[in-house]
Amino acid sequence: MSADLVIVANRLPVDRVTGPDGQVGWRRSPGGLVSAIEPVMRAGSGVWIGWPGGASDEAPALSTEPFEVDGMRLAPVGLTRAEITEFYEGFSNGTLWPIYHDLVAKPEFHREWWDSYVAVNNRFAERAAELAAEGATVWVHDYQLQLVPQLLRALRPDLRIGFYLHIPFPPPELFQQLPWRRQLLEGLLGADLVGFQLPGGAANFVRLVRQRVGHKTHRDLVYLPDGRTVRAEPFPISIDAAGFEALATDAGVVARSLEIRRALGEPRRIFLGIDRLDYTKGIYARLRAFAELVEEGHIDVEDAVFVQVAVPSREQVEQYRLLRDDIDRLVGRINGDLGRIGRPAISYLHASYPREEMAALYRAADVMVVTPYRDGMNLVAKEYVACRVGEDGALVLSEFAGAADELRQAWLVNPYDINGMKAALLEAYNADGKELGRRMRAMRRTIRQHDVKAWADSFLSVLGEVSNPHDKSVRPARRS
Ligand code: G6P
Repeated sequence: MSADLVIVANRLPVDRVTGPDGQVGWRRSPGGLVSAIEPVMRAGSGVWIGWPGGASDEAPALSTEPFEVDGMRLAPVGLTRAEITEFYEGFSNGTLWPIYHDLVAKPEFHREWWDSYVAVNNRFAERAAELAAEGATVWVHDYQLQLVPQLLRALRPDLRIGFYLHIPFPPPELFQQLPWRRQLLEGLLGADLVGFQLPGGAANFVRLVRQRVGHKTHRDLVYLPDGRTVRAEPFPISIDAAGFEALATDAGVVARSLEIRRALGEPRRIFLGIDRLDYTKGIYARLRAFAELVEEGHIDVEDAVFVQVAVPSREQVEQYRLLRDDIDRLVGRINGDLGRIGRPAISYLHASYPREEMAALYRAADVMVVTPYRDGMNLVAKEYVACRVGEDGALVLSEFAGAADELRQAWLVNPYDINGMKAALLEAYNADGKELGRRMRAMRRTIRQHDVKAWADSFLSVLGEVSNPHDKSVRPARRS
């Protein structure tokens, strides 16, 4: 089998789950990357290479042959238990994730983790080299696989290789801490095009390449000694806006949103947070801000409730476990202090839901609260806007989410400033229909014009224009 478009991402869009009867089933994977790439894959005929979750040395042996789920061709790459600890939980999520998110948590540096990162990146590169057709386009995604472009180019110089980073790319002051900074930059330079969420990420990358690798650069271009040029450009990611809008008007979803409001006791206002349970998301501070508003009498629990959905994530990583305990304790304390019978201040759900349930929640919520300390984009903010077909509802959004660059009409907040967040929550809570409509209409226009299809098309078309000598596509001119 060979494909003209190969997507390479650490995770497949589905996770393998084994039921009590030993039967293997598939469950949708969490996170923004999967939400964004899935519609791109459905529209085309590529193959997606990724990890199906679980350890390959424990689970019943998984064939590595590509297979189909929901109309997508998927090619699994297995990880052993040790690789899950060292490559995935370790280097990807214990070293890179905090460095790339402003050091919201303290990164750890371990040489064995790096070795495992190199080994797993090699495996992904080899798999892509096997599955890509002659002259194919390979699109590599995210921080777990930054060495793949270089490794793959060495194996298959005929390919057109793009790389996209879904999370922020840090300023040089932070990136320089990495003992393997040069290798990571060289890994990325194997691509023809390196895409980032925001212009700042692309600029950080080009500056680092100049300073640390010593290549010549000009604006968004890097000139390599072998004659290749690498482009670094921003491509802000988006969502399937029309798909979410259709979901939000689906009769079942509408009925479910009314049921949610009823189940919550028909409060006048519902505040909503939906996040992976991650320390970058600012869940703790946001719940405290809400609780203080209740405590001070600005908000009454008979009148409003905060629904917080925390999607389980990276549960074996120490910092994520501690965060879960902190949030559990905080919610317990707030509800114990401020709730009344049948009226908790916070309705807390530690669970992952299908798209239909998310759309029903977005429809039911009056104030969506998205307050990460640092976030590449944050697609939840965009999904909320897409689902507000009545052109109402308020979005309170962190300045430090990539989405804030486009959704200027949200109530923008600094998530480190609790008083500022309280003021914004209160304003959003009290805003009148005219104000809400004005803001929401403008944000909906933005999301419609720039959906995930536009994002993928623009990345792939810029990648298609890069004129590097891809062995087979450039032949010496014939003499006449
Ligand atoms: C973010 C990252 C993705 C990642 C997702 C879920 O969206 O950018 O690369 O897949 O989180 O995290 P997980 O560790 O469960 O794959």
